[in-house]
Amino acid sequence: MKGFEELRTIKLEDDKVIMIDQTKLPHRLEFYECYTPEQVAEAIKKMIVRGAPAIGVAAAMGMALGAKLAAKNGRNVREELERVGKMMIGTRPTAANIAWAVNRIMKLTKENSDDKLLKLITREVNLMAEEDIERNKMIGVYGSKLIEDGDVILTHCNAGSLATVGYGTALGILRKAREEGKCFRVMACESRPALQGSRLTAFELKEDGFDVSLITDSMVGYVMSNSRVTKVLVGADRILSNGYVFNKIGTYQIAVLANRHNIPFYVAAPSSSFDLQHNYDEIEIEERSYDEVIQIGGVKIAPEGVNVLNPAFDLTPPELITAIICEKAIIYPPYDKNIRLTLLEK
Ligand code: MRU
Repeated sequence: MKGFEELRTIKLEDDKVIMIDQTKLPHRLEFYECYTPEQVAEAIKKMIVRGAPAIGVAAAMGMALGAKLAAKNGRNVREELERVGKMMIGTRPTAANIAWAVNRIMKLTKENSDDKLLKLITREVNLMAEEDIERNKMIGVYGSKLIEDGDVILTHCNAGSLATVGYGTALGILRKAREEGKCFRVMACESRPALQGSRLTAFELKEDGFDVSLITDSMVGYVMSNSRVTKVLVGADRILSNGYVFNKIGTYQIAVLANRHNIPFYVAAPSSSFDLQHNYDEIEIEERSYDEVIQIGGVKIAPEGVNVLNPAFDLTPPELITAIICEKAIIYPPYDKNIRLTLLEK
């Protein structure tokens, strides 16, 4: 298998979208093909493709399929894009990237005539995929400045190649730091209930030859209090203009523990994950199926009929975050001033 550094999670081909089926990892590397926007939306919902930047680009690719099919069947392309865009936004509510991607495609419909539209959409979608990789590489360039020899870096969920089109955000920083010759170790939290940490991060890092140790989520306090962790580095699904960060459930408690132990807590994400419009109480935290909690690998691990909660994300407040790394800079507090300054600068 190719290293994850070069692997592409998702690709638009003529009449289909091809993606790595992440529900099959780490046991099998299989590809999943979608021929309609409905199939792409379903793949996003079922987390066949997942990770905020990856689902943003997947949604745009689904729109490109919708536009092509509409043109082929003599339906109105603009109306179809409107419909598919709404459907994509309805798949997973917490990550900022789907709305970002849909808005970018819809902007094209406003600025261009019908005859140009199809070509432009395909071009734009491929550009978005390439840009995603380039942005991640720039996040790596900035973020690697924070990594030192001897570090033990704790990460949560999967903010790697698999969460993006390629290279990864938080894990992209690790790739760059290693390329620069830095020696460090990684601790990956398993990230219950969907286990992105054990199934994806541990797999991705191990395949690429990183020194990675897997821990359960309940071990974070222990490894921090035993001075085994020097830095925390996570991705983000949505970052607000005042520095509030939505990320995988469990991130908030890691940030609180890092604060307790004076361990720097870093967040890495591209500009497509920033939301400068909303307040935190306006963002929906996705509630996923209870089966994710009461089963592991299809085996029941809880009593029949027990009450269950399954929020997929939580919110970390800015005072717990040491810095946010995006493709333009390392952003330090005060976030309510510096996020806008960094993202809106020419
Ligand atoms: O529910 P998922 O797997 O789509 O979760 C999103 C994420 O991958 C993480 O929260 C990640 O830390 C941010 S996306 C790079």
